[in-house]
Amino acid sequence: MSLHVRDVETRFRTASGEIHAVNGVSFDVGDGELVGIVGESGSGKSVTINTILGLIRAPNTISRGVATFGGRDLIAMRSGALRKIRGAEIGFIAQNPFGALNPVLRLSRQFENVVRAHRRIDRKTIRRQALDMLGHVGIHQPERVLDGYAHELSGGMAQRVVIALALMLDPTLVVADEPTTALDVTVQKQILDLIAALVRERQRSMLIITHDLGVVANYCDRVVVMYCGRVMEDGPVREVFRRPYHPYALALLRSVPRAGQSLETLGGRLPKLNAEPVGCLFRDRCPQSKDICASVTPPLREVSPGRKVACHLDVETEVPPLVAG
Ligand SMILES: Nc1ncnc2c1ncn2[C@@H]1O[C@H](COP(=O)(O)OP(=O)(O)OP(=O)(O)O)[C@@H](O)[C@H]1O
Ligand code: SF4
Ligand SMILES: [Mg+2]
Repeated sequence: MSLHVRDVETRFRTASGEIHAVNGVSFDVGDGELVGIVGESGSGKSVTINTILGLIRAPNTISRGVATFGGRDLIAMRSGALRKIRGAEIGFIAQNPFGALNPVLRLSRQFENVVRAHRRIDRKTIRRQALDMLGHVGIHQPERVLDGYAHELSGGMAQRVVIALALMLDPTLVVADEPTTALDVTVQKQILDLIAALVRERQRSMLIITHDLGVVANYCDRVVVMYCGRVMEDGPVREVFRRPYHPYALALLRSVPRAGQSLETLGGRLPKLNAEPVGCLFRDRCPQSKDICASVTPPLREVSPGRKVACHLDVETEVPPLVAG
């Protein structure tokens, strides 16, 4: 099922003023599509997803916008109704697997709770399905794992269990927020291969948040590049990686030539988000900024079919290619 996100805004009121974390984000995840969201730390990736999924628990949070999933607006929905969708229709894989598992309940109970929150199925059937799913995510002794507790698991095993829980009800959309950053590189690859294969095999959709451009290159159909709570560029991975149009996307791709490297190698810092943002937020780091960039916010516009960019330049002619010459 597809997800259509439009003009999502999230602000936090804190003792030291307002933080404009997400400033009008729009993107789509089509049926059967794998979409990656990339951006530096603090660019608003998690807040965007958490706003859409109703997972922000901070008081004094102001959210706006629309996120349509199967014809329903998730942002306008009451938390009870949204909880029914989350888990059953949308599977969420959080960054920290141990945070997603209950330390004092046997894992078998956690599988039962997840299923029973949504469906009337007897224990025996749930157990059979859980064992099956644990086998699917590469757990060798599923009986032992199911009858044990989270603390008995390694990080990689715990993440596999969280993936099994998220996929237990066969959601049509899987959302994963940095699902593997806590794991070593080999386990990371195994787990991403696994999630992507399960999603593709079942023709489901997926939204994956990552710092790692290699992950996007290997697993995604489309990429959404975020900066300071805004979308800078959105398009097919192959096209964007061959010829980025936004100066920020260009800087990212130039600074991160290989898979597995983090985005923090880029010079300069993100501007503070403590005021209503005006103009292009990348202007302090942009080698091509002009007067208009400080006063007018560039809208996210379609520059060619399927490709959107938020920049005042005529990007096809004025932004240099990835490889000079
Ligand atoms: N509860 C909160 N209260 C105040 N500010 C917050 C809160 N949660 C997030 N922020 C701020 O919102 C901004 C966006 O944060 P977010 O966690 O979405 O970034 P991110 O892109 O997911 O970064 P990372 O890659 O490090 O996970 C940051 O400046 C962060 O400090
Ligand atoms: S709008 Fe201006 S500052 Fe922003 S990326 Fe384009 S040229 Fe650079
Ligand atoms: Mg995050």
